[in-house]
Amino acid sequence: MKGRPRVLLGVSGGIAAYKSAEIVRGLVERNAEVRVAMTRAAREFVAPLTFAVLSRHEVYLEVFGSGNLPAVDHVELADWTDLLLVAPATAHTIARLANGLADDFLTTYALVHRGPILIAPAMETRMWEHAATRRNLELLGARGARFVGPGRGFLASGREGPGRMAEPAGIVDEALALASSSRRDLEGLRVLVTAGPTRERLDPVRFVSNRSSGRMGYALAESARDRGARVTLLSGPTGLVRPEGLRFVAFESSADLENLLAAEFPECDVLAMAAAVADFIPEASRQRLHREDGERRVRLTPGRDLVAGLAPFRRNQTVVAFAAETDDLETGGRRKMEKKNADLVVVNDVGRSDVGFDSAENEILLIAREGPAERVSRRSKREIADRIWDAVVRVRTSAEPALRSPRDDGD
Ligand SMILES: Cc1cc2nc3c(=O)[nH]c(=O)nc-3n(C[C@H](O)[C@H](O)[C@H](O)COP(=O)(O)O)c2cc1C
Repeated sequence: MKGRPRVLLGVSGGIAAYKSAEIVRGLVERNAEVRVAMTRAAREFVAPLTFAVLSRHEVYLEVFGSGNLPAVDHVELADWTDLLLVAPATAHTIARLANGLADDFLTTYALVHRGPILIAPAMETRMWEHAATRRNLELLGARGARFVGPGRGFLASGREGPGRMAEPAGIVDEALALASSSRRDLEGLRVLVTAGPTRERLDPVRFVSNRSSGRMGYALAESARDRGARVTLLSGPTGLVRPEGLRFVAFESSADLENLLAAEFPECDVLAMAAAVADFIPEASRQRLHREDGERRVRLTPGRDLVAGLAPFRRNQTVVAFAAETDDLETGGRRKMEKKNADLVVVNDVGRSDVGFDSAENEILLIAREGPAERVSRRSKREIADRIWDAVVRVRTSAEPALRSPRDDGD
């Protein structure tokens, strides 16, 4: 099983080659494994050593060069790579890729590569607009290559126009989205994700709910889907668009969710319990409450712990619980892990206003049973989701024998 996204970056000989160092850094910072291949012209602009240091790996240069076993490395590399990213892509390299030439390591590799290709063109406006380049771009696009940029701006010649390479941060975003969507490390797993708030009835027109937006759970469901899992998303009321390509079941109250879990949990391999389930259930009035009736006290009774309640259905499912803490995140998270018999706990710091609930970003503490807690610094909920699935894959891989069902063991 693969964990971190694996990117082969091809650097060709444009002035923007120096910006590719920032692309490698951005990818590595975001937990990708990176290898770099450089064309001969690229080496006129930046020394391979720069990329070797940043990627912590030798740079691929020639098919027949020293250090590369002829015609072997590129084939092995194809099994390793999730995404081929070419940045900057010169007019010449785009032409070679479009026409299947194989006169250096990068273009030879491109012919054995079977995953997605992302191209960041960079060249003078006239080269960009030339009919030959247009045709080559069309050919590549028709074969499924994706492009990022170019943008407009000042070019190396001092002129202004289209042809400037997209900014490194944007290229990194695009590359990781493509690389992780090509990872199929959850293939065959049945994943159950719960998301969003519960609504507990107070009277026929009112309810008690919470601030959960559902974004974290939706991001988890979408990420799992893209990594090959069969996903069922149990969703409380959210304002989010229903994701494609997964089974979607809506719930309102925690009692609804409890019933759904009883039906769905026995059939799943992984449960990610991102829904914010009511801790307290109000005593519901059958009649609408009227202001004219004066002050009213509402009795709140503690709700049930839905994850703990799944114990009778537990086989070897991996359970990911979520904790919202304001103080000692790790202690709170570990307590929750025991109480819920979870394999992983994702702790949100809900004392902060800049991340969490309604925000598109989050920052978490990820706690597994083994090893130290891992802090995942502020980033998009989709990236957080990817990191959570990475951890699930690690937990399941290390517990592999225990995860085999009794049937598989022959008894
Ligand atoms: C200073 C300088 C800057 C260049 N910048 C670019 C560029 O941005 N884009 C491009 O397509 N070619 C550019 N070229 C031309 C390429 O280096 C040349 O076409 C080369 O053959 C590309 O080889 P490669 O695609 O194998 O790296 C530049 C050349 C020089 C001397």
